Amino acid sequence: MKKFQFFSRFALGTAFLSATFLNAYAADATIRELAKERGRFIGTILNSEWFNDDIEPQFEEIHKTQFNVVVAENEMKFDATEPKENEFNFEKGDKMVKYAQANGLRVRGHALAWHSQVAGWVNNYSGQKEKLLAVLKNHITKVVGHWKGQIAEWDVVNEAVNDDYNADWRSTNSVWYEGIGAEFLDSAFVWAHEADPDAELCYNDYSLEWGLREGSKASFVVEQVKRWKKNNIPITCVGTQTHIEIAHETTPQNVRALAKALAELGVTLNITELDIGFPKGSAGQLGAADYAKQGHLYRQFMDVFLEEPNMGEFVIWGLTDAHSWLDEQQGKTEGLLYDKQYKPKPAYDSVMASLKAHPASEVKTPYPDSILNPPKTNPKDTTAKDTTAKDTTIRDTTVKDTTDAIKMFNAPSSVSLQLVGRTLFVTGVTATNSAKIDVFDMQGRPIFSTKCKNGSADLSTIAEGLYVVRVNNGSTGLIKRIAIK
Ligand code: XIL
Repeated sequence: MKKFQFFSRFALGTAFLSATFLNAYAADATIRELAKERGRFIGTILNSEWFNDDIEPQFEEIHKTQFNVVVAENEMKFDATEPKENEFNFEKGDKMVKYAQANGLRVRGHALAWHSQVAGWVNNYSGQKEKLLAVLKNHITKVVGHWKGQIAEWDVVNEAVNDDYNADWRSTNSVWYEGIGAEFLDSAFVWAHEADPDAELCYNDYSLEWGLREGSKASFVVEQVKRWKKNNIPITCVGTQTHIEIAHETTPQNVRALAKALAELGVTLNITELDIGFPKGSAGQLGAADYAKQGHLYRQFMDVFLEEPNMGEFVIWGLTDAHSWLDEQQGKTEGLLYDKQYKPKPAYDSVMASLKAHPASEVKTPYPDSILNPPKTNPKDTTAKDTTAKDTTIRDTTVKDTTDAIKMFNAPSSVSLQLVGRTLFVTGVTATNSAKIDVFDMQGRPIFSTKCKNGSADLSTIAEGLYVVRVNNGSTGLIKRIAIK
């Protein structure tokens, strides 16, 4: 009897609690609404099928009611936007931007400088540094400029780090790295910033969820971010793609550690391409426990996301298991929130549960109100004019510029430097003609030295790009970042 009383009370209590719970979150609350209340963005891609009107009718309704940030699966990549040299195709991207504006979605741009999905014609310039710099600059300037003010955030560089045990730059099968060197990354950020100074700019990569041990990809990226910040390279965010499998149980905590490391550098961490796949062979044999486990992992990621104040976007690489790169290319399956019939999976409920468990009052947002509630734009007016054509001069942001590898003098400097074309004019150095000029790449490696003659130095042999120049006559000197064009 006692036992029965206990259980019936318990049952009643639970019923009461869930009723209150349900009331507080009316049945129609979506993960988008809860994310928005918390100053965060939850998103997914628009699958390539959507751009060709080849997707089930329920896709769009779910997409626009459940998500508040969107990324094009393929349609803003290099091969899609510049299929022929200097001939741009923005049609599909425009379609997405218009859709996003009509439905109040933030837009992520993906991706500007990436070794993959580069248009074939770029390979005609393999190994030609100057030409490749010009190609990349033109691409970034035109693409970012086209959507200026409409794309909130760009993956400026994607997957530039290799998969070695001791991570380093990806040095093979990358037309950009092989032709230009690692400074293609620095330049890409500066050009993107020039084309849209308000856009957030990310470095994006996979396998960042494997922890911060020495030599790991994540710690290599953190080191680069430190260097970029010191050198005034305008990076604002890192994207962890996070394509994982059901067995990868330690990954949420690793993402938390990465968020904390980046918080110290004043950089946001976004989850940009999450999917949590099962091995393809398990298709058809998965049961409730498997889907619950998947849900648990999704929940852990969402918990981390909401608890770390410098995380802003939680983007899943697909909406329905009916359309996912996992099956087509990855030997994995069923990694998303909705099943093939567009039914929300336990993973969806887990994401919802995590959002509910973190009240809006306790979740910090990394964004100002102007980003969370941007002024409404007229959806018809999406084709931005190319306003960047004349505005390619890289602004001098060198006031606090230092490059660790470059030693500087203590003496306060009265020296000033001015680059006109390829000639560097130096004033304020006593005995100007004995001043030594050293030029470093953005990694701090010396690449060129000369002496000042008649107050100037000839830099015409240096390839186009971003550099640090040091002028030194023994007692006075200056370090400054320059853009050689
Ligand atoms: C994938 C798309 O989903 C596929 O359709 C395409 O064939 C290849 O690229 N990392 C990225 C994404 O940054 O752009 C990739 O998208 C998945 C891995």
